[in-house]
Amino acid sequence: MVRGAPQLRRYGIERREFLRYLAAVSVIPSLPNLVTGQVVERPTFAANPFTLGVASGDPEPNGVVLWTRLAPRPLEPFGGMPAEAVLVRWEVAADEAFTDLVRSGATPAVPQLGHSVHVEVDGLEPHRWYFYRFHTGPETSPVGRTRTAPAVDVLPERLRFAFTSCQHYEVGYFNGYPHMQQEDLDLVVHLGDYIYEYAGNENRVRKHLGGEINSLNEYRLRYAQYRLDEDLQETHRILADGHAAAVAGDLECAGPAGDGCAAESGHA
Ligand SMILES: [Fe+2]
Repeated sequence: MVRGAPQLRRYGIERREFLRYLAAVSVIPSLPNLVTGQVVERPTFAANPFTLGVASGDPEPNGVVLWTRLAPRPLEPFGGMPAEAVLVRWEVAADEAFTDLVRSGATPAVPQLGHSVHVEVDGLEPHRWYFYRFHTGPETSPVGRTRTAPAVDVLPERLRFAFTSCQHYEVGYFNGYPHMQQEDLDLVVHLGDYIYEYAGNENRVRKHLGGEINSLNEYRLRYAQYRLDEDLQETHRILADGHAAAVAGDLECAGPAGDGCAAESGHA
C-alpha cells in the first residue's frame, strides 16, 4: 500500500497573518503619545466621576492591572467629560483602611481613551489580597479589592474561581453575581459576550440604549450601560478578572473584561 505524504499538523498562526496582526497592533497609540496638551492636575466635576466603579484583572504573582473610567454623566456622550486629559492618582494598600500603603502613582486619563485608566501595578506579593482606589481632583473612587496570582513555583492548596459569559442586559437581571460575591473566590473569569451590540428591544426586562452599536462612542456608551448594573459593578469591585485571552469561541477577548469583548464583533 502506497502511503501519501504524512499529514503535518500545523499549530499557531501563519507568518503572513502574524505580520498583519503585528501591523494592526503597532498602530494602537501608546499613552505618552496621546497626552498632547496640558494634563489638568486638579480637575473639578459636576458629579462624582467614578460612576462606573473600579475593576482589576490579569493577576500575576507580582501585580495586577487596575481599571476605572471617569464618567460623571455615564450615559451621555463622552461620559460627561471635557475633551482634556486629567490626572488620576492611584493607591494600593495591604489593608482596607489604607494605613499600610504599598504602591501608589499617577496617570493621565485622556479623552482619546474615553478617560479610562489602566494601571499595571507590580512589586506586589504573590497570592494575597490587596485594596486599591483612585483619586482625581477632590473625588475618590470606591475601594476595590484584588488578589495576586500564586507564585509560579508554588502549587496552592486551593484556588477557586468562577466563570461567567453571555450576559445579555435585556433578557435578565445579573442575579448570579450576588451569589458569586459570597463564594470566597480567588478570581472570576469572564469568558465573553460581556456586552451585546444589538439595538434596544421592547417587551424585555431591560432595554439597550439606542440602536445597534457600531462606532467607538456607541460601544463606550453600551459598556457604560452594562457597567452601571450594580451587581456586575460590585463583582468587579471585590474580585479580580482572570485571564481569558486563551478562550476560543465566537468572539475574541483579551485583557480585563469589559475592555474588549462583544458578541460577533471580536475586539471592541
Ligand atoms: Fe455567548
